[in-house]
This record gives sequence, structure tokens and C-alpha cells, in this order.
Amino acid sequence: MRHLVSIKDLSDQEFKILVDRAEYFKKMFKNGNIEEFQQQHLKLLGRTVALIFTKRSTRTRISTEGAAAFFGGQPMFLGKDDIQLGVNESFYDTTKVVSSMVSCIFARVNQHQDILNLCKDSSVPIINSLCDKYHPLQAICDLLTIKEKLNYNQNKLKLAWIGDANNVINDMSIACLKVGIDVAIATPIGIEMDNEIVDEAKKIAIKNNCKFTLTHDSKEASKDAHILVTDTFVSMGEEFAKAAKLRQFKGFQINSELCSVADPNYVFMHCLPRHHEEVTDEVFYSDHSIVFDEAENRLYAAMAAIDIFVNNKGNFDNLV
Ligand code: CP
Ligand code: NVA
Repeated sequence: MRHLVSIKDLSDQEFKILVDRAEYFKKMFKNGNIEEFQQQHLKLLGRTVALIFTKRSTRTRISTEGAAAFFGGQPMFLGKDDIQLGVNESFYDTTKVVSSMVSCIFARVNQHQDILNLCKDSSVPIINSLCDKYHPLQAICDLLTIKEKLNYNQNKLKLAWIGDANNVINDMSIACLKVGIDVAIATPIGIEMDNEIVDEAKKIAIKNNCKFTLTHDSKEASKDAHILVTDTFVSMGEEFAKAAKLRQFKGFQINSELCSVADPNYVFMHCLPRHHEEVTDEVFYSDHSIVFDEAENRLYAAMAAIDIFVNNKGNFDNLV
């Protein structure tokens, strides 16, 4: 049994198959005969899909529930006020009980270790739906969006991340390098990328002939970039440090001046939810912004994840 913990655990080829699978579901869903198409995919009919979410969510919840419904499964949202977890029951007992009754578990938790514990103790596949270290469903969706808009198979691209060293860029940087996109990351001084991610990113960059650079200068990172990306400066669970973090991020807002050094046809991406401190309205709502197409693609990323890790038991071989 395979779980989806991070893009880091997948081979380059497996990651590309996941993105292509998401693209396939989108094409069929949007252009095909949905009823006929869905009839062939009712692999979870009569079964349930658990969502153990200890943090709030809009996109991840809607996309995973929608994807479960597409395959005929009944999604079950188990928020922190709904089940005994954390109040009356341990993570271990909860995992044993929930996994004995469902087809798979989407889990949104605080600590990365909670995801690893779930994987160890669950009898069904775990799909990491965000922890403090990774956000793989977002990376699948983001690479689908980049593929659609800029075709990374045919064009040499540079992605610039201006912002926090967080869960989203950890998976996104690995994902980009796996498909051959150069990555430049600008964080404020004192906010540094995780060493494990940097080591892995450097290895993939060398193997795939890509550039991976770290800087504290947002203009340097953005220069000639085809994709400008940011995220909130204060992730869920870090609210206690908000005032200090916002001071640290002064000068890191993506605005028109910063965009002027990017490639003239740059696109702007953001996983959402968005706050004004990381990007101006002028950029966020501009013609360069693809944030709402990106958000919609979360549905197809979730479909691909269920299809491969649950329906296909983590076997990529017959999907090439
Ligand atoms: N991008 C993302 O994961 O959004 P939610 O937190 O709303 O699920
Ligand atoms: N980095 C953000 C992503 C939200 C989708 C967080 O963890 O809160």
C-alpha cells in the first residue's frame, strides 16, 4: 500500500503521470459525456472517504469531497469538533478505527509527524491534505495549471517564489524541478528553506539540468521569471507569531514594480487563501493572474490522487 505524503516520495515519472492523470480527468469532465465517463469510474460506490481535518479548509475540502463523489464514494468530513480525536481519543486509536471502515483517509494536520503516524497505523491509503511541511495536492494542481498555461514540456520556464519557506513551496519546488522548471526562491533573512528540501532539490536540479537558487532579494529571484508565486506569510498554526512575521516580510509584497522585472508574459499564482500583505490587488486581479484557474484545478488533482493511490492501489504502471 502506498500513501501520498509528499511529491518528494515520487519518481519524476510518477509525478508526471499524476499531473497527466489530473489533466485527463479535467478534459473528460469538462468536454466529455460526464454520465458515460463516470459510469466507468464508479470504483468507490458504496464506500466512504474520510477527511480527518484538524485545520480549516475551503479548496481542499471541496475538491476532495467532489473527487470522492465522482468515483461514487461518500465523503465524510471529520473536523476537529466532530470526532473524539485530540479530546477523548488518541491519534493512534482514531487511525485504527477510522481506517477499518473507509476506503482512504485525506488528512489535514498540523505536524508532519502526525501524517507519518497515520501512514504507519492506517490500513488504508493516507493522502496528505496539508501538514506543516508539505502540501502535495496543491503541487499536483499547480503543475497541471502551469502545464496548461505555459506547457512545461515544450518551453524552458523559470518559477520565482517570493515569500515564506513553507509547506507549499517545499512540495512545489520539488515538483517543478521534477518536470524541468528552474526554481528561484526569495525569502527574508532569517526565514530559510528546510535543509532536507534544499538537499533534495539540488539533487533533482543537477539530474534534470535545472537551476535551483536561494536568495533574500525578491528582485533577483523574479528577474525574467515566467511564473511568480507567493502564499500567506503566516500559515495556519503560526498565528501566535503573526506580528513578528509581518515585520520580517516587509518589502516582500508582490506588486507591479516587482512584476516589471519578470518575463513580460509572466503568470501570477497563489494557492489561496490570499492576504493583501503578500500581493497587491493590482497584481492579484490582473490579466496575468491565474489564481482562479489554479483553484479549480484542485478538483482534478484530487481525482488523480484518488484514482492512483486508492483505485489503483498506488500502482502507476498501467497508467503510462
Ligand atoms: N489552497 C488550499 O489548500 O486552500 P484551503 O486551505 O482552503 O484548502
Ligand atoms: N501555507 C498555508 C497554505 C494554506 C493552503 C498554510 O499552511 O496555512
